[in-house]
Amino acid sequence: MQNKIKALNAKIAEAHKGGGDKRIEAQHKKGKLTARERVHFLLDEGSFEEIGMLVTHRSTNFGLDKQKFLGDGVITGYGTVNGRLVYVFAQDFTVMGGSLAEAHAQKICRIMDLAMKNGAPVLGLNDSGGARIQEGVVSLGGYADIFYKNTQASGVIPQLSAIMGPCAGGAVYSPALTDFIMMVEDTSYMFVTGPSVVKTVTHEEVTAEELGGASTHSSKSGVAHFSCANEVALINELKTLLSYMPQNCEEETRSVPYTVADESRESLNTIIPANPNQPYDIKEVIDGLVDGDSFFEVHKNYAENIVCGFARLAGKSIGIVANQPAFLAGVLNIEASTKAARFVRFCDCFNIPLLVLEDVPGFLPGTDQEWRGIITHGAKLLYAFAEATVPRITVITRKAYGGAYDVMNSKHIGADMNYAWPTAEIAVMGAKGAAEIIFRNEIKGADDKEAKWKEKEQEYSDMFANPYNAAARGYVDEVIQPAQTREKLIKAFKMLENKVDSLPKKKHGNIPL
Ligand code: HXC
Repeated sequence: MQNKIKALNAKIAEAHKGGGDKRIEAQHKKGKLTARERVHFLLDEGSFEEIGMLVTHRSTNFGLDKQKFLGDGVITGYGTVNGRLVYVFAQDFTVMGGSLAEAHAQKICRIMDLAMKNGAPVLGLNDSGGARIQEGVVSLGGYADIFYKNTQASGVIPQLSAIMGPCAGGAVYSPALTDFIMMVEDTSYMFVTGPSVVKTVTHEEVTAEELGGASTHSSKSGVAHFSCANEVALINELKTLLSYMPQNCEEETRSVPYTVADESRESLNTIIPANPNQPYDIKEVIDGLVDGDSFFEVHKNYAENIVCGFARLAGKSIGIVANQPAFLAGVLNIEASTKAARFVRFCDCFNIPLLVLEDVPGFLPGTDQEWRGIITHGAKLLYAFAEATVPRITVITRKAYGGAYDVMNSKHIGADMNYAWPTAEIAVMGAKGAAEIIFRNEIKGADDKEAKWKEKEQEYSDMFANPYNAAARGYVDEVIQPAQTREKLIKAFKMLENKVDSLPKKKHGNIPL
């Protein structure tokens, strides 16, 4: 028996090496790797242990009994990435188009069960024609079994999805239930209904790439968090992303060695323009604050008015949410609120402290935003921050106006520390609009209305365009020089290292979805 299994293993390994097999060649011709090659690149050399290699389907429909393939179109197992245990599944498009049916689904579910019990991330490499048509409802059931486990595992272990080929129909919902989605440009796509159905129903002509390719989902829909030039680039990004996370919700993230030295960053002192309406790039502030080039941006091309990403501060992982004055003046809109809320919740699930850099003129006004529900979507961000129990620090670099002041991790909604730069402006609204409302009669009665308005605008600005009113109330803990900020943050996050906080007992909250 042992010899037979050995011989089988050798045969399978041979079949997947490439060269002879036309299906493998076809995969390579499309610019794609095979499932086995992907696993090889992903995991540490020699660490992969395959589970369920001999599993086959049990269907006899449409002659399937004559088309059995060992493994049933998905490679599952465990191994290590930079020495850390991970569970992995890789759908094999060369076997019945990587289609998912009963046995295929059971193998994925088994991996997820093991990952949950042993507290390690699941990495899913998706490349599939969807539900195996010949197996009918059993295929649909298989998907639902996976969706259920995705949901159970959410917040317990990190779940990361790589889309390396087709991912269509209801199949999209498993990646959508995971924490992060990465896509490969030109060779992967995700959609609920493909171009031909779209044409029939809505008469729109659209290519698969336009409808659900990597650039569409990483910039227009926000479904994908990363768009990578090719599969190897994706695998490298996946490993980097993983490096910022702990194994599970009970663990802290792993630190990289760091010796605290001179932490002042003089270049930050000149980063805010003299004119408060002039933009600057918040990513320069981030790079100036964090360790070396440790900033790893998430959702780079989506809702660019807010920047989210991981970084290290004195060797420790943090999550950063920062308004971007260089894009739409850093205003909060629906997309930015949703993007940041999801990121905040991920960090909170997995014990990653949060740093917020605030320069926000407010929520974006207008019918488009109101009719599409900025109220509900903005509330997501508010809710996400208010519920987060990880260490939370805010630095107000410039504008903190209106509701956005409250939402962006203010002390009132549970931030642990709140710093402001001397350039901070903290007020209910901008000086021009405020003067127009509260000094309406004075302006109306003045001989030179324009001059009066300017005078009142200045008066309001002198009173509120600074951080000192907030500091006098303790809403801001300290007004600090930009160059000092890194040092302050290192000390404050260290002080908060053992923070214990919990939410009132409840089944679960009701985030405004
Ligand atoms: C069974 C499938 C399959 C499927 C592909 N194959 N999809 N077999 N069930 N869903 C098989 C093909 O018959 C073919 O087998 C091999 O995989 C490769 O497929 P090709 O069509 O030759 O490849 P390609 O030209 O690259 O096209 C890929 C594709 C296309 C665009 C994905 O195969 C396709 O449209 N497949 C059907 C997609 C689909 O409608 N799936 C159901 C979605 S609904 P041979 O032996 O000829 O090489 C769904 C519901 C899930 O998934 C609901 C969950 C709630």
